[in-house]
Amino acid sequence: MRYSAKIKGTGRSLPEKILNNFDLEKLVETSDEWIKTRTGMSERRVSADDKASSDYATAAAEQALQMAELHAKDIDMVIVGTVTPDHAFPSTACLIMKNLGIKNMPGFDISAGCPGWIFTMNIAKQYIENGTCENILVVGVDMLTKITNYKDRNTCVLFGDAAGATVISRAEDKDISRLIDSDISADGNYWDLLVQPAGGSRTPASYNTVRERQHTIVMEGNKVFKLAVRSMYNSCETVLKRNNMDTNSVDWVIPHQANMRIIDALAKKLKVDMKKVIINIEKYGNTSAATIPVALDEVIRSGKIRHGDIVLMTSFGAGLTSGSVLVRI
Ligand code: ACO
Repeated sequence: MRYSAKIKGTGRSLPEKILNNFDLEKLVETSDEWIKTRTGMSERRVSADDKASSDYATAAAEQALQMAELHAKDIDMVIVGTVTPDHAFPSTACLIMKNLGIKNMPGFDISAGCPGWIFTMNIAKQYIENGTCENILVVGVDMLTKITNYKDRNTCVLFGDAAGATVISRAEDKDISRLIDSDISADGNYWDLLVQPAGGSRTPASYNTVRERQHTIVMEGNKVFKLAVRSMYNSCETVLKRNNMDTNSVDWVIPHQANMRIIDALAKKLKVDMKKVIINIEKYGNTSAATIPVALDEVIRSGKIRHGDIVLMTSFGAGLTSGSVLVRI
């Protein structure tokens, strides 16, 4: 490791349209009370019909660049965590680069479910530390409402759309800000607990796949629930132990915003006071790869998280995947 990496800028972009629990009551057999008590969600954002992941991601990236006091041409790599790219190909990273007016550098997408941003942070860290790059644009973006079945009450109440962007830069010696450590992991044995069944090479799109809504999210929620707490806890323990730290050394925890009960259970297992846990699930629901970069941007801009604070971020999702990032802001 020749250099250190740090977070230099953050940004977010959310659709204006709001879908609240009462709107969902009109679509499926559910209630505001059930959704609030079982998930902690009140409303979520829904992308405009004519917008896609790259549109919101570009807006978030512009904000992150502004905070970092960098121009797009200062970026030397773009990595995007998403499971809802604009197209299967080309990558969303290429489209964001086109929108930002930059080219001739590596740009690629990572498919890691909800921890997509955590995975991209992990990769960006290596490229900064080995000296290949100085500034990397990392994006977590998902438009899950575009692949949600609004006839399935088990899933349709959970998801929203958002984009979060982060600029990772080479830290100077005098900087206290650091990307301290990161852990990522995947276990394909649970691939079928959370899957978009059709549209890939296993089951290409056909009249039947559309009629049977196989292009939407299918999930075994309660099985995912149990694995979520364990996998995020294990990942947090891995990065903390590796750095001779425990949760007492951490100022803030930003967990993936999938379900309030999962967040509560994780905080309890980690022995972290809920006052130290950042939560915005009530407003946005589960925005997949965007939950953590959006929450991070909110608390940095509001001044809740300050320069020098130690922040532990952790996520899990389709794969099943999981991971954590430990940073000093
Ligand atoms: N409204 C009313 N009732 C509902 C609803 C709803 N929206 N959804 C499910 N129910 C019913 C079920 O039908 C079931 O009824 P039954 O007992 O008559 O069969 C009952 O509620 C209990 O269902 P469970 O699935 O056991 O409910 P649970 O408490 O597990 O909550 C939930 C369901 C919210 C989905 C929860 O399991 C969860 O959050 N799981 C984790 C999901 C997750 O985080 N996924 C990550 C996806 S991110 C990614 O990578 C794309």
